[in-house]
Amino acid sequence: MDKIIIEGGRPLVGRIKISGAKNAALPLLAATLLAPGWHTLKNMPDLRDTRTMLLLLETMGVEWQKEDNGTIRVNSAKLASFEASYDLVKTMRASILVLGPLLARMGEARVSLPGGCAIGARPIDFHMQGLEKLGVDLTLANGYVHGRVKELKGGTVYFDIPSVTGTENMLMAAVLAKGTTVIKNAAREPEIGNLVDMLVNMGGCIEGRGTDKLVIQGVAELRPAEISIIPDRIETGTYLIAVGATGGEVTLTNCNPSHLPSLLEKLRIVGLEIKERETEIHVSCPAPLRSVDIKTLPFPGFPTDLQAQIMALMCFSKGLSLITETIFENRFMHVAELKRMGADIRIDGHSAIVKGVDRLYGARVMATDLRASASLIIAALAAEGTTEISRVYHLDRGYDDLVGKLSMVGAMIRREKE
Ligand code: EPU
Repeated sequence: MDKIIIEGGRPLVGRIKISGAKNAALPLLAATLLAPGWHTLKNMPDLRDTRTMLLLLETMGVEWQKEDNGTIRVNSAKLASFEASYDLVKTMRASILVLGPLLARMGEARVSLPGGCAIGARPIDFHMQGLEKLGVDLTLANGYVHGRVKELKGGTVYFDIPSVTGTENMLMAAVLAKGTTVIKNAAREPEIGNLVDMLVNMGGCIEGRGTDKLVIQGVAELRPAEISIIPDRIETGTYLIAVGATGGEVTLTNCNPSHLPSLLEKLRIVGLEIKERETEIHVSCPAPLRSVDIKTLPFPGFPTDLQAQIMALMCFSKGLSLITETIFENRFMHVAELKRMGADIRIDGHSAIVKGVDRLYGARVMATDLRASASLIIAALAAEGTTEISRVYHLDRGYDDLVGKLSMVGAMIRREKE
């Protein structure tokens, strides 16, 4: 297992190119199951999760090729299996995204139940209730969800909570169902807009893009399509927050500031100077950091996937901040590790009270999940002394070339075998 070693206390200066979004790439790869022929996916990030999804598709008979400049071509013409096995699903719960497209294309799907993960129980009941509304007969046995349907029929689905992958699974099934499907209280994350664009490019008929009501008019068949994966807003946010913690001046390129409304607002309150252009963000940190309260919410609210990172930033602020997590029940695993570096944080139910300190100190810490790992990287970049972060395979799931990108802007960071 590898570890990352960071000598803290260096301001970040330069330019960082943002990669394609993990959480857009995964549903777009799953969507290639819907139509045979060569699909073209541009701006594909090189991540452990995207490689896992490609491996999963391969086990079903899907072929793919890597081209230059991050383009991947995928063809599901020889689709031969409708099963997603435990071995792969246990390493990436987003594998559940093949359920909707397999049912739409083959009328049958057998997908291992993802189970809980480090951040919470993460049930899939909304996915199942939604698919049942489209006529799917679902059974649970031996750790697998098994779905069968003769012909998908449109239906109306209401989500109690706007679920991102739940909305995506419904979209991918409804697009080939007979009749009209309405998804009420749909998630509005930008990654869903990216999937809607892909499905429309494939010949799908979808109204309400970007809103909480999606209306899908089913079509008889779809064709292969080309799509560019949107920039990763969580990677963008992570580097913006890192500059807040270390000081310095960085331009993030190939990104989309309109996908980060709540984060940019909060960072300006904290005291960061942020200039937005269409595909770039310039950030600097001229003054001491002010504290700010945060509550995670579905888009356009503050993303849960940036909660751990902003908590690391608040450790360096003047004052108290109240950080409330409303999406996942167990997403404070980074707190104990930040405290080992000298942070003053108290957890009270779903909230964490962070009292800014003069400095954090380097320590040996352990990454517990993807975004918790990113928060430890931010803390380490700004801490005094050396930090060793173990179990960095979590970071490989969702950050494309993190060590390379941070080195390019002046961080003293290296990766070593443990
Ligand atoms: N929920 C249910 N039942 C369901 C589905 C969701 O109760 O059937 C609940 C969840 O427990 C949670 C809330 O609804 O409380 C929202 O969960 P959601 O379904 O939106 O999460 P997800 O689709 O499983 C995606 C991202 C996560 C991100 C969340 C929230 C992908 C592949 N994953 O997960 O990304 O945190 O939305 O924005 O898109 C990450 O990248 O680190 C990550 C965890």
